[in-house]
Amino acid sequence: MEKTYYITTLGCQMNEHDSEIMAGMLGEMGYTESSVRNAADVILINTCSVRDNADKRFFGILGQLKKIKMENPHKVVGVCGCMMQQQHVIDSLKAKYPWVDLVFGTHNIHELPELLEKILSEREKLVAVWEGSETIVEGLPANRKYKHTAYVTIMYGCNNFCTYCIVPYTRGRERSRKPEAILEEVRNLVKDGVLEITLLGQNVNSYQGIGSDGNMTDFSALVRALNDIEGLARIRFMTSHPKDLSEELIRAYAECEKLCPHIHLPVQSGSSRILEKMNRKYTREEYLLLVEKLKKAVPDIAITTDIIVGFPGETEEDFAETLSLVEEVGYDSAFTFLYSIRKGTPAEKYEDQIPEDIKHERFDRLVELVNCISAEKNQKETGKVREVLVEGGSKTNKNALSGRTGGHKLVNFTGDSSLIGHIVDVRITESNTFSLIGEIEE
Ligand code: 5AD
Ligand code: SF4
Repeated sequence: MEKTYYITTLGCQMNEHDSEIMAGMLGEMGYTESSVRNAADVILINTCSVRDNADKRFFGILGQLKKIKMENPHKVVGVCGCMMQQQHVIDSLKAKYPWVDLVFGTHNIHELPELLEKILSEREKLVAVWEGSETIVEGLPANRKYKHTAYVTIMYGCNNFCTYCIVPYTRGRERSRKPEAILEEVRNLVKDGVLEITLLGQNVNSYQGIGSDGNMTDFSALVRALNDIEGLARIRFMTSHPKDLSEELIRAYAECEKLCPHIHLPVQSGSSRILEKMNRKYTREEYLLLVEKLKKAVPDIAITTDIIVGFPGETEEDFAETLSLVEEVGYDSAFTFLYSIRKGTPAEKYEDQIPEDIKHERFDRLVELVNCISAEKNQKETGKVREVLVEGGSKTNKNALSGRTGGHKLVNFTGDSSLIGHIVDVRITESNTFSLIGEIEE
């Protein structure tokens, strides 16, 4: 009988890629992916701890799984990812969800095959979470979700300790992979048909990889080395911190033809006073100066961001500064978040928490402005011819294709499915708030 697995992934691209690696390892163990969660023999939930809506979704899914597990005790239910690096989560799992078979953390992903074997042979519950070891395990297989685009993790962890953020506590200190290991992985991906890579890390531009010759490669040098790989067409990266955005990287944008004209540059707030309370280490003015330099170096650059609304102590004036910064930068799109208290972070203790109704009211105003600017930016794309990496058609209509421009804008258009995996010129004919419509340029 075929053994199957199903993985639910919550959270960011790092988690999506971790799930691809777990799927790769399960594949090597002879498992195949089930399309239905409740039918799978091994059910995993890869959790996120960044905001409380992800926590809630996790406990919601666990609630649904209880019945399945009670009726099918032979099934293995495992939970992993960022939330499992928090002691209070482990405690509540033990107390309220004792039927969960396997708990493992972000640093123990490579142990999945071993842990699973052990559970299946000994039928006992296991908890394996990181306690201090921060080594990087290379050479893990990945069952990638997309054929022509791929995630490549270049660094793990974060040293920044923004006062609202749980990540430094769950993912540990920054560790960079060796440049040679990254280059080899990318060369192999290209051999496999990958045209576009997205370099992943909580703060990719503080990458500092030590090569086997003992020399240090920084992020811009890594981008330049990747730019030389034959057959690779596009390089993207997520996420960068404004304080680490070097002049060298801005120059690399201008000089590396494969580096896509897009940057995701989280600002979090437009008020220097709030940025200081957030421990972001830059001011509004410094951020705006960076944006100006980027726009000068790459005139067509698409800029996207993350913004938190209702951080403790945020006044109406502070919020007005966020709105005015959004207008001044003219973001192509922005992820907007309601501030969410995270246990163990400095901001949890701040006494000037903002009432929920005020947070929501500001949030709605911000989203309206962000969407209005996105629509304007997309409108400006009409009439232009853009290179689009064709990602795939819809299930119902093979000729309905979609793909992304260098600026990461989603374009829908009609064409033959043989174009999937190719970069084609598309003339943009119509625009919406979140996507574009185009025609293939003959
Ligand atoms: N509350 C709300 N948003 C948060 N983020 C991180 N921590 C929190 C929090 N406690 C947001 C930031 C970050 C993105 C990944 O999630 O904007 O850039
Ligand atoms: Fe969190 Fe700040 Fe690190 Fe980003 S840079 S992961 S927001 S601590």
